[in-house]
Amino acid sequence: MADGTKDAVSSNQMWGGRFASGPDAIMEEINASIGFDKKLFAQDIRGSVAHATMLADKGIISTEDKDKIVEGLNTILSEIERGNFEFSRKLEDIHMNVEARLATLIGPAAGRLHTARSRNDQVALDFRLWVKEELIKTERMLTDLIGAFLDRAEEHAETVMPGFTHLQTAQPVTFGHHCMAYVEMFGRDRQRVRHAIEHLDESPIGAAALAGTSFPIDRHMTAKALGFREPTRNSIDTVSDRDFALEFLSVAAICSMHLSRLAEEIVIWSTPQFGFIRLSDAFSTGSSIMPQKKNPDAAELVRAKTGRINGSLVALLTVMKGLPLAYSKDMQEDKEQVFDAAENLELAIAAMTGMVRDLAVRTDRMSAAAGSGYSTATDLADWLVREAGLPFRDAHHVTGRAVGLAEQKGCELAELPLEELQGLHSSITEKVFDVLSVDASVASRTSFGGTAPSEVRKQIAWWRNRN
Ligand code: ARG
Repeated sequence: MADGTKDAVSSNQMWGGRFASGPDAIMEEINASIGFDKKLFAQDIRGSVAHATMLADKGIISTEDKDKIVEGLNTILSEIERGNFEFSRKLEDIHMNVEARLATLIGPAAGRLHTARSRNDQVALDFRLWVKEELIKTERMLTDLIGAFLDRAEEHAETVMPGFTHLQTAQPVTFGHHCMAYVEMFGRDRQRVRHAIEHLDESPIGAAALAGTSFPIDRHMTAKALGFREPTRNSIDTVSDRDFALEFLSVAAICSMHLSRLAEEIVIWSTPQFGFIRLSDAFSTGSSIMPQKKNPDAAELVRAKTGRINGSLVALLTVMKGLPLAYSKDMQEDKEQVFDAAENLELAIAAMTGMVRDLAVRTDRMSAAAGSGYSTATDLADWLVREAGLPFRDAHHVTGRAVGLAEQKGCELAELPLEELQGLHSSITEKVFDVLSVDASVASRTSFGGTAPSEVRKQIAWWRNRN
């Protein structure tokens, strides 16, 4: 480093050549990102090792210097991992903290590492590598959550419960079928994660500040060394682009919206009024004043995490909106949003996976509720269409009158005397009672994707093959 001996306090040792004095304290505070981008240390060092190796391979730096650089970088990696590294805010960010330490460790050779690169492509690289690893982790965690639902669905392929629309009893379904709805949702999330990985799988290093470089670098070599499919194609776009971070956040936002719906159902189902499930002690808390209480705190917090994850997506979209090409310092605000969303999404998925695996299903309560609220009214209407040849609209009307009658008598549809049903329509026979039971209703819904246990088992098998 030409000015490696310069005092970092008076002017910055990395770019301070033309500066007579150091920054104002507030300037230093607003400018520094080391407080949060130190999280990128492993990616930064990996990127630098690949870059130095390529530079030596192309004869841009000597093998001797490359060896020193790589050795120094590895020392720094273990220093940081062991907590033996002093991060300095004066050195702004992770890139300059690592490089300054490298200069201390190996001397002037350290200054050759930054040949043919800029912090603009360096930060794009580090952050992409980090987001890629996070997406891979998210994919694994979603597979776990999907697995938990598949197990519960298998166990409860025959367990009946009320299905709801408008949160009003609609038609009986099985708990297995309801679980499989979440498998579909988290399966789509997992697909979105996979697409996001595919989209970001291009290496930014070598775009340099924005225009590329006159050095004979090999971007395909660094791309390969860092596990990317190929290098990015446009150096201006490369240093301007944060789509990979935005894609991560949008995937996270949609996924956490799904998690919040599950969380809400868990909250509702675990109330004494519903009583469909019992939460395990491991995922609930007590009240300090009301000894009888068991609160679904974990589910409530998962429901709430959606707020900050959505907030992160909107925050970064707003940061990026209207930015001229190429890099602007605004983009430094990308990391905290992604880090926060990632941490909280991981927590939310893990908590939900645990809850789904642990919760006790109260089949008696589900099945009692499944038959109440005239949930088989549609089955009566369908029967009138099928067996008595009524147009559906007329069947709907007759059934509505049957529900009114049952309501008046304070009984369920299946408890109405045959004569009274016949009073509503003469073609009704004893056989109608076959479809008025919850089990018959559920078993009859064998259309593709329907709630019949036989159909639910087919869907479970389909997913097991894709896990
Ligand atoms: N800390 C910066 C960031 O996170 C690194 C890139 C700085 N580039 C620059 N030209 N000042 O965005």
